[in-house]
Amino acid sequence: MVKLRTNVLIAYSSGYGVTKEISEEIAHILSQDPHINIELKPIDNIDHINGYSSVIVGTSVRADKLLANTRDFFATFRKELPNKKVAVFVVCLTASTPEGRKKVLQDYVPQIFERYNNLKPVSVAAFGGKIDFDRLNPVMQKLVKHVYEKTGVNGDGSVDNRDWDQIRAWVKEVKSKIL
Ligand SMILES: Cc1cc2nc3c(=O)[nH]c(=O)nc-3n(C[C@H](O)[C@H](O)[C@H](O)COP(=O)(O)O)c2cc1C
Repeated sequence: MVKLRTNVLIAYSSGYGVTKEISEEIAHILSQDPHINIELKPIDNIDHINGYSSVIVGTSVRADKLLANTRDFFATFRKELPNKKVAVFVVCLTASTPEGRKKVLQDYVPQIFERYNNLKPVSVAAFGGKIDFDRLNPVMQKLVKHVYEKTGVNGDGSVDNRDWDQIRAWVKEVKSKIL
């Protein structure tokens, strides 16, 4: 018997490319499975989600909020998303520690799922993020220093708190839920 391939969309929202890089790794891992068709798209370029059985949404955070276009995406597709398997990952500095990851799941993620309470994700994860300090303009640098203080991240310049083993382990979990 021929097993059909399942279509999976990865929609990402990324300011400086960090969430995009993580999304690319997730797409790379999932695309090795012969039963999965992957499409990877910036969240702003998605005008429909027909034909996908699963949607993985990746977003970073600014000023304690999921990026605005991520919030718009959930609003736009609020009727379709509850009929799909949805997984979400959030990338930010707060998620650099286990306590921070708990905070992200308790404080940031409910911004979405309390509003659309018929949407039940199969999995939600929080990943430590990254800052290329020299790429930021002085205003952004000031904001990021404030985030370092607030989150307790020991950064005086650039930091990379991504944990690729954690990310790959999550992909394995998500794969078992979407297949
Ligand atoms: C201006 C600015 C504000 C930020 N605000 C927060 C914040 O409130 N909380 C947090 O945990 N991380 C915050 N971050 C960290 C980012 O979420 C993190 O660096 C992430 O990896 C960025 O990913 P991206 O390049 O995909 O946008 C902020 C970063 C910047 C540049």
